[in-house]
Amino acid sequence: MDRIRIRGGARLRGEIPISGAKNAALKLMAASLLTDEPLTLTNVPALVDVAFMAELLRSFGVAVELEPGTRLGEGGRLSLCAARLTSTTAEYDIVRKMRASFQVLGPLLARHGEAKVSLPGGCAIGARPVDFHIKGFEALGARIDLADGYVLARAPEGLTGATYEMPFASVGATENLMTGAALARGRTVLKNVAREPETQDLGHCLIAMGARISGLGTSEIVIDGVERLNGIEYKVMPDRIETGTYAIATAIAGGEVELVGARAENVGALIGLLEKIGTEVAATKRGFAVHRNGFRPISVDVVTDVYPAFPTDLQAQFMTLMAIAEGTSHIRETVFENRFMHVPELARMGADIHVEGDTAIVRGVPGLKGAPVMATDLRASSSLVLAGLAAEGETIVNRVYHLDRGFERLEEKLSAVGAEIERLKA
Ligand code: EPZ
Repeated sequence: MDRIRIRGGARLRGEIPISGAKNAALKLMAASLLTDEPLTLTNVPALVDVAFMAELLRSFGVAVELEPGTRLGEGGRLSLCAARLTSTTAEYDIVRKMRASFQVLGPLLARHGEAKVSLPGGCAIGARPVDFHIKGFEALGARIDLADGYVLARAPEGLTGATYEMPFASVGATENLMTGAALARGRTVLKNVAREPETQDLGHCLIAMGARISGLGTSEIVIDGVERLNGIEYKVMPDRIETGTYAIATAIAGGEVELVGARAENVGALIGLLEKIGTEVAATKRGFAVHRNGFRPISVDVVTDVYPAFPTDLQAQFMTLMAIAEGTSHIRETVFENRFMHVPELARMGADIHVEGDTAIVRGVPGLKGAPVMATDLRASSSLVLAGLAAEGETIVNRVYHLDRGFERLEEKLSAVGAEIERLKA
């Protein structure tokens, strides 16, 4: 298994290009199941999760093709054509590798009247049930049975518009239901929905395909079902979690980095905090730049919550920053119940953190020390890389496959701005 080696201490200077958003790309790919015409996506990142989704879609008979001569992550155009499906079953072997696979339920059910999708099960960051998805589809008239670890959903006459209010503004459930409702008969009103930028990106793509959706970005979405959707070409939005990770990396290592292609408005909560702790953030023509020189960041408290609040997907990275800040920070995680697995690993590098219930209390230390550490999940892995940038000596991050699921060419991008980082091939 590959590992990443970092020698800490280098300041960062230069520019980092921001890739297409993983969590938008995966759902956009699943939306190709809604139409018999090709959906062509551009700005798709080259990530292991994108390859998993391509594999899943191919297992249904979707023709997934990269335009000849192009590469993912380098302006490549990915064409997906679900003209004729040979299966509507998402097998356990693929779904267990990537929870976002569950997002095929809505489109399959809406267009083909049935879907059999493996239950994703728990994962490192929490139990992550899918009950809102299931209750929502039942509200839209589907019959759902659970057997042998699979969700069997049937709506032979198609889905019917209805009102459904989610107990929590779940990203996945909002997207799954919105996608299914696009082809339902009549009007669907989804209340207490996710407002995340990726959810809006999916909604905009569906609208461009011919769906009638209003209220994107608010807590209530109204979808007037249409009979069919068209193929289009659509550009995946820039990744706000990658953006935030490199913004925090710069605040940790010091220096000045321009995040090219980044959208500052999608990371407003983070930028507010970076400014509060003494980092400068300035808009540029191509994105925005982060600058910190010569002083220690000041501790601030953070609470994760649904968008537009501080994202759970940046919690681990921000904890690394607080680990070297001046003062004490309370970091409260409200979205997932078990998302502090990076704490013992950061502690091995000299961080002073202890967890009480849903809150991590981080007492800033003047410096971290390099150590071998182990990645536990995607975002936690990136927090360990960031810790390595600030640490004295050498840090080896093991189990790098987590990073490859969601960060495109991470070590290349960081070394291009001066970090001493390299991948050690297995
Ligand atoms: C999406 O997961 C993202 N994944 C996650 O990013 C992200 O952390 C999360 O949204 C929150 O922003 C993708 O987009 C592929 P949720 P999702 O449904 O949709 C509970 C990454 O690293 N819940 O909003 O699965 C659930 O257990 C990943 O890229 C139910 O109880 O998140 C959790 O506590 C990690 N029942 C909370 O809601 C349900 O039916 C939020 O989950 C659904 C969710």
